[in-house]
Amino acid sequence: MNTGHQKYIPFQPIEKAGRRWPNRQISQAPIWCSVDLRDGNQALVNPMNLQEKLEMFQLLCGIGVKEIEVGFPSASETEYETLRALIDGGLIPDDVAIQVLVQAREHLIRKTFEAIEGAKNVIVHFYNSTSTLQRKVVFRTDMQGIVEIATNGARLIKQLGDAFAARTGARLRYEYSPESYMGTEPENAVWVCREVMKIMEASPANRIILNLPSTVENCMPNQFADLIEDFCDRLPNRESAIISLHPHNDRGTATATAELGLLAGAERLEGTLFGNGERTGNCDMVTVALNMYTQAIDPKLDFGDINRIRDFYERVTKLRVHERHPYAGDLVFTAFSGSHQDAINKGHAWMREHPGDYWEIPYLPLDPADVGRQYEPVVRINSQSGKGGAAFVMEHVFGYRLPKAMHPEFGAAVQRYCEQAGREITPDEILQIFRQEYVNYNGLYRLISYKLSEVIDTDGESAVHFEGRVQRNGDPVVAIEGDGNGPINAACNALNHLGLEGYRFVDYAEHAVGAGADATGVAYIQVESPVGRKLFGVGMSHNINTAAVRGVLCAVNRDLG
Ligand code: KIV
Ligand code: ZN
Repeated sequence: MNTGHQKYIPFQPIEKAGRRWPNRQISQAPIWCSVDLRDGNQALVNPMNLQEKLEMFQLLCGIGVKEIEVGFPSASETEYETLRALIDGGLIPDDVAIQVLVQAREHLIRKTFEAIEGAKNVIVHFYNSTSTLQRKVVFRTDMQGIVEIATNGARLIKQLGDAFAARTGARLRYEYSPESYMGTEPENAVWVCREVMKIMEASPANRIILNLPSTVENCMPNQFADLIEDFCDRLPNRESAIISLHPHNDRGTATATAELGLLAGAERLEGTLFGNGERTGNCDMVTVALNMYTQAIDPKLDFGDINRIRDFYERVTKLRVHERHPYAGDLVFTAFSGSHQDAINKGHAWMREHPGDYWEIPYLPLDPADVGRQYEPVVRINSQSGKGGAAFVMEHVFGYRLPKAMHPEFGAAVQRYCEQAGREITPDEILQIFRQEYVNYNGLYRLISYKLSEVIDTDGESAVHFEGRVQRNGDPVVAIEGDGNGPINAACNALNHLGLEGYRFVDYAEHAVGAGADATGVAYIQVESPVGRKLFGVGMSHNINTAAVRGVLCAVNRDLG
């Protein structure tokens, strides 16, 4: 038996009575801070180059992010250059704050202030690790020593920061992260933050950002929410701090950690696009924001063109957004299962019949159009797809509204094709099947010409007289004629002249495809064969009568074929 699990130390949840967060709901967007250019970039096999970083910055501004961590300028020359390029190039909008990260160490702090010279709106973010584990194995010091690292850093930052703001008139704010907060004893986390707050003279008018990172996610989201609520309750002068989260995704629950953490009192969230970041990544801002959106909350971030954002992200990070990534993956607005396709179809019909304010389509929690995705790929077709899927594609991609009774027949034709192909098929292939199976069906009989006339009998009743010329294979052309109460009936009856007695017209639907001068009529004709087999024929023509007559012959040909 594998006993490997025994070497792990389980997370110790805090004892907590009267928790309030489970009864709350998220009602507004947090303050978003992107760490794509720092935490995200530092985790890339090939970090972004200067040009890509500038483009990423502009993309984030376009999405609406107002706080952007640009880098760790004291630790890397390229990050220093990026910062200078942004500032010197005048690329930072006035309402966007750049955030710079620095360890709570003197020489790094001084270099950071050099890097931000000329910036108007800056968050200086300093951190040191506080967890029990880091204290033991990395710093080999006690909590007192850790608090001293933080407070020494805070003192210098405050001194240099005040001077910088006074000299340049810049808006300068401070952020402190007790790094690896999630592994820090709750009282120690409060202790270090409280001491830093005092030095930074945090006040309700001048709030410090206290960022509580799940540097390595180590507990369930509810346990983390307990920590956050407890922290907020214990922190003196709580109103002088903005509580920020920085979840990593080691347990795959960064989104839930963020959401429950917001319920527990946090007001700000650091994350990245599509969750890029160290190891399993940072919290994915796209998912958290669109989760809010689908709960009718304005996330204050614009993901209206998700494909463009995704393409850019994939280009600069050389990472791939998974096909099933929430809201952004290639397959997330796709249904393969027949019952899902059918329900989506019905949902679309419902919304057409009941135009209203709400999105009510089963299996689609988000209107794909809201993220700039098309309806076309909503339903994709493989051999598992149901009868409605192919009809959906025909209607939504190509504008053919196949009558409901025709769906099983066409669906079966598509399924046969898929089984042979052994793969998913494209909308173009579906159209091809439709053409081969119906419109261009190469059958026994070919219509050469026809004429319709209206006949009024002695009782004043009108009937339609059909005269046509048809050819069977290469045989001589034969003339046929018949009467009926309409063109289709008359054409059906005329087929008697070919010795095809017994075909009965069952149903008929028509509509136009295309618009204006290019519009073409399409007629779907259902007939019953002499042995009681019901099947469809389709005819197309600018003249709707011709379309119908072709449809009749198509149905007969298919039956004979
Ligand atoms: O994950 C982390 O703890 C960090 C800090 C520097 C905020 O990235
Ligand atoms: Zn991080």
